[in-house]
Amino acid sequence: MDTDRIVRTFTEYYQEHGHRRITGSTLLPPPGDPVLFTTSGMHPLTPYLEGRPHPLGRRLVNVQRCLRTTDLEEVGDRTHLTVFEMLGSWSLGDYEGPQSLDWGYHLLTEGFGVDRGRLHVTVFGGDERTGPDTGSLELWQGLGVPVELTVEDNWWSNGPTGPCGPDSELFLWTGDTPPESTPTGDDRWVEVWNHVMMRHRRLEDGSLVPLPQRNVDTGLGLERLATLLQGRRSVFECDVFEPWRRTVPGLWRLDGTSLRVVCDHLRSSVVVIGDGVLPSNTGRGYVLRRLLRRVLTVLRRDDPSRGLGDLPVELVRHTLDRFRQDVDPELVRGVLREEEVRFDRLLERGRRVLSRPRYRGPLGEQDFHELHDTHGLPRELVLGLRGGDGR
Ligand code: SER
Repeated sequence: MDTDRIVRTFTEYYQEHGHRRITGSTLLPPPGDPVLFTTSGMHPLTPYLEGRPHPLGRRLVNVQRCLRTTDLEEVGDRTHLTVFEMLGSWSLGDYEGPQSLDWGYHLLTEGFGVDRGRLHVTVFGGDERTGPDTGSLELWQGLGVPVELTVEDNWWSNGPTGPCGPDSELFLWTGDTPPESTPTGDDRWVEVWNHVMMRHRRLEDGSLVPLPQRNVDTGLGLERLATLLQGRRSVFECDVFEPWRRTVPGLWRLDGTSLRVVCDHLRSSVVVIGDGVLPSNTGRGYVLRRLLRRVLTVLRRDDPSRGLGDLPVELVRHTLDRFRQDVDPELVRGVLREEEVRFDRLLERGRRVLSRPRYRGPLGEQDFHELHDTHGLPRELVLGLRGGDGR
């Protein structure tokens, strides 16, 4: 099942159950929002989860592009991407968690044909503040799906304050042997879908108060589900990465992890630029700058002549189309090339500064601060120039 069909199957299923499709937002949250990027499908819906009536009603479904920097160190493994698409469904004070889980179970097993023997779920087991999520537990027991109870892993929030609640996560077994252990005990259980019973708000002082309505917010990572349904081992092998797999190894010879990091960061950068962000030293622009510098550091490690200008326009266009961004791909390539020139200048300066006798020996914390504050050389770049941990 290709990604487009997964999206159709998902949205049509929820539409059949009374949900209205809303248009996903860009990666940029509205002005005044403290978060740099949209990190989950619920994020643009926060006012409605907090009680404002949504013009399309109480049942919604959509596809939302998201960017997560919390997972940055994990990118290059089998399951994490920086920019990804999330399928989501919402009950804004309408039906409750067990109904959402029941639909989720039927969509996965009947709509997507997932073998029910490969399913495991987790449920919030309760803590000193909030009791166990018995509604979810009973639903899963009734369906005969194995359940693991956890505490921290089954509480979802979008940040230190705001809407939050217990969640129930659905995992699929990806091992070659019959399923064993539990989701927290074996990482061959891969999380595909999260249903959050979003009915609390956390205040500044850490206390919880009930939201004006009891919501359900669900999110399912599209590329991850596509990977599993297509019988692939890593997200980089699913259909959306096919043009990347076809093109990038021919441009630059890279080992497995580097190839995945380069593809992820470049694809993410294209989408971030497509949403109107330019590289800079603060905020969103700095996230973009870090992604591109990491790509350049990896590319230049083996061959200093490699550059972002090598990236074919078709690949940029394919990515913009995939994310429904109406932007000229040449404009995006222009931003990439400019950033590369800036990076080259910085490298030049870095080499000159690091060749001074003062920095020839092992570097301490004080040196890293000075290199950054006085010479504008970020730690990552210094480490890249020195190799190893720079010490
Ligand atoms: N907000 C939850 C998540 O991001 C479910 O959509 O996992």
